[in-house]
Amino acid sequence: MSERTSVWVELPDGELVKVGELENVVNPRGYALRSEFKYDAGFLTHPLAYPLCPELPLTTRTLPTVGGKPLAGAFSDASPDSWGCLLLSHAEAEAARLENRRPRVMREFEYLLAAPDPTRMGALRFTDANGEFLSPARGNVPTMVDLPELLTALTEVDNINPDPNILEVLTRAGTSMGGARPKATIIDDRGRLAMVKLPQRNDAWDVLAWEGVVTRLGRAAGINTVRTCVHRLDADRSVLVSTRFDRAGTHRIGYLSAASLIPDALTDAASGISTSYAQLAASVAHVSADPDADLAELFRRVALTIGINNTDDHVRNHGLLRTKRGWRLAPMFDVNPFPRRNSTGSMSITVGGDPSYREASELLQAADMFRLKPDAARDIIAQVRQAITGWATTALTLGIEKNQLSGWESVFVSPALDT
Ligand SMILES: Nc1ncnc2c1ncn2[C@@H]1O[C@H](COP(=O)(O)OP(=O)(O)OP(=O)(O)O)[C@@H](O)[C@H]1O
Ligand SMILES: [Mg+2]
Repeated sequence: MSERTSVWVELPDGELVKVGELENVVNPRGYALRSEFKYDAGFLTHPLAYPLCPELPLTTRTLPTVGGKPLAGAFSDASPDSWGCLLLSHAEAEAARLENRRPRVMREFEYLLAAPDPTRMGALRFTDANGEFLSPARGNVPTMVDLPELLTALTEVDNINPDPNILEVLTRAGTSMGGARPKATIIDDRGRLAMVKLPQRNDAWDVLAWEGVVTRLGRAAGINTVRTCVHRLDADRSVLVSTRFDRAGTHRIGYLSAASLIPDALTDAASGISTSYAQLAASVAHVSADPDADLAELFRRVALTIGINNTDDHVRNHGLLRTKRGWRLAPMFDVNPFPRRNSTGSMSITVGGDPSYREASELLQAADMFRLKPDAARDIIAQVRQAITGWATTALTLGIEKNQLSGWESVFVSPALDT
């Protein structure tokens, strides 16, 4: 038994071409065994053809996933993560109720195709046997005007039997973006696709306002960051709107996460082994169209991560964008200050390094992995340290109240970047 879809990609020159066929191989009881991908002969001879991810080299052979992996990395990057899957399961339950049938079991392949096409992450698209793009939009993508409705819907998601009419706005807001936090894709006031990160009931502080602060500090430190805007909802909660970097007007830009770029990254994470920045740097050097620039940029980001104690810097929080010349680092996103030591989800600097104790001295020692001379590396660290000193002013500018700053001093005024 199997299910299949045709895979398409929008190339950096804007041309939409068929890449190949993806098949989900299941056993007779419907349990997914693996997926198999085969490039189209036409794509293999296209001058702008590129391997979708390292697991899918350009070849005429059929490429099965191995080790029980349901989808190759490039397809996982176009799939929803836990938040999107939750919404899609609710939508399937409602469709089953209306059609008086049992809900289908949703697994990775079903989630991939159920995610709406217009807001899908990256440049990959999928069609059914009739050539229709999957999945068709369920209605208009919401705008900022719909924010109150999105927030109301958010409180409904965790109910055992959520009201489908209330959830509807969240489903329209797309489900293909990765990540665990509630989020929505909207059309911003300049007509661009944007991602809105929404507060969570169990947030112990205004997580999204602080993510906005760090994005600004990153920009001040010379890092290429996503364009973000913080909207305060009340004294304790904000939403963060960030322009979609995988879109340029109506064009879709190819995206590859570091999870898909680094062989074994996810297997390592599952077995508790931390992926290192040294591994990421080596992989970026291998595929980047401008390795010197991207490695220096990555070094700057690691310095910021250490300097503000960002402990959630796992391999899905780094990625690359496809340009006409090849892959380049995507803007920095999802970098957050954390008030405690915590190595869960963190990357170590060097192979075998300790992800919970990362300091400038270790980063400096690793400078040559980022193709930096010691002086240049030291300068970058000094620039990042200088930018972080603006943390309180930036926080106040974004509407965080003065009495909410005190607990953060130990995070932003730390010796982590002393050299
Ligand atoms: N501005 C953006 N444009 C396009 N894609 C984005 C943007 N920001 C984030 N993404 C993509 O969406 C995914 C989820 O975003 P993000 O990492 O910010 O969410 P999260 O729920 O906080 O994640 P996590 O589960 O790591 O905490 C990212 O992994 C990235 O692939
Ligand atoms: Mg993330």
